[in-house]
Amino acid sequence: MFSEADILNQVARLRTEIAQQDATALERFPFAFYAAYLRDVQSDAALVVSLSHHFRRDQRYRRICRDWDSAILNRFNQLAMAELLSDARDRLARRGFSTAIHNLYETWFERIFDDLSRQPLSYFQFDGLSPFRFDWSVCCLKTVPIGGANVVHFRRAGMPALWGGGPAQFYRYLRCLIFTAGGFSPFCVIHTHARFATMADPSRLEDGYLRIAELLQRDTTLRGLYRRGWMLDPAVGKISPHLACLRQVPLENGAEFFPCRTTKHDLRHSLTRSPLRQRLYESGTYRPSAAAFIWPRQAMLSWAAGKGAR
Ligand SMILES: CC(C)(COP(=O)(O)OP(=O)(O)OC[C@H]1O[C@@H](n2cnc3c(N)ncnc32)[C@H](O)[C@@H]1OP(=O)(O)O)[C@@H](O)C(=O)NCCC(=O)NCCS
Repeated sequence: MFSEADILNQVARLRTEIAQQDATALERFPFAFYAAYLRDVQSDAALVVSLSHHFRRDQRYRRICRDWDSAILNRFNQLAMAELLSDARDRLARRGFSTAIHNLYETWFERIFDDLSRQPLSYFQFDGLSPFRFDWSVCCLKTVPIGGANVVHFRRAGMPALWGGGPAQFYRYLRCLIFTAGGFSPFCVIHTHARFATMADPSRLEDGYLRIAELLQRDTTLRGLYRRGWMLDPAVGKISPHLACLRQVPLENGAEFFPCRTTKHDLRHSLTRSPLRQRLYESGTYRPSAAAFIWPRQAMLSWAAGKGAR
């Protein structure tokens, strides 16, 4: 477990590296403003998916990016992360999460700390769907690790399910959101980044849903869980039984499912990790397809209570 001294050493090392690259950079670059801005953006946006859109629109960020080339900007991002980590544990302690979630955060912090010296400089950027954005959001305590490769952020339910199944589904989805869940927002939304796939632990996938039930208990404004992905396709559970519970558990416990349009990302993600699914796809036996579900809070909490919320 990293100590305060380890963090201070990292900060000193990163500052030295920046000075070696550009001796006056830290004086000329508004680092304190930038680091505070990054924290603040996250608290405004409150969700990892909007972060890059926010940055693209924000004049101050665009000016900084224009004035500083990406190599040094990435170093500033790395340094900002080290500083953010320095008080992450204190902030975490004040939030009073369950022990299970608290421990998952600690594990995530450890990995982020190791990445400060393990990842190439190109890792520390916010563009696109970079995993660094997830790390940042987790360190801001805005995104919650729920075990394995999965994290949860808080936002409105996704819209792909509105358009994925014709007019009947359009009205069914609206009915589910408005009358069953009680509104469009806020929902817990699960996200699995390919970068963290090696952390996946199929034997504990169900535990992730239990962690989300804990989040619902903490915050009574949350309307439930929304999830969308290729792994919710019934065909996936038949081919890859270790993933079946991702669909089965919500399906059998009050969630409503909606087919969605399948994107090129679904296709890529469904095939890259599994030689078996890749083979079946090539032989025409498996056609990846996406779905979404709404698992309303009451239904999810009843299921968790029945499990004894381990
Ligand atoms: C979702 C995800 C985390 C699941 O990972 P996973 O639990 O390792 O499951 P996968 O089926 O994808 O694993 C692929 C390989 O891991 C192995 N494996 C891991 N755990 C296994 C288990 N318990 N039983 C059998 N095989 C297992 C298998 O070799 C499998 O290959 P195979 O299908 O050819 O046998 C992973 O697929 C992923 O990160 N994908 C990319 C990101 C993504 O899809 N994000 C969601 C966007 S909506």
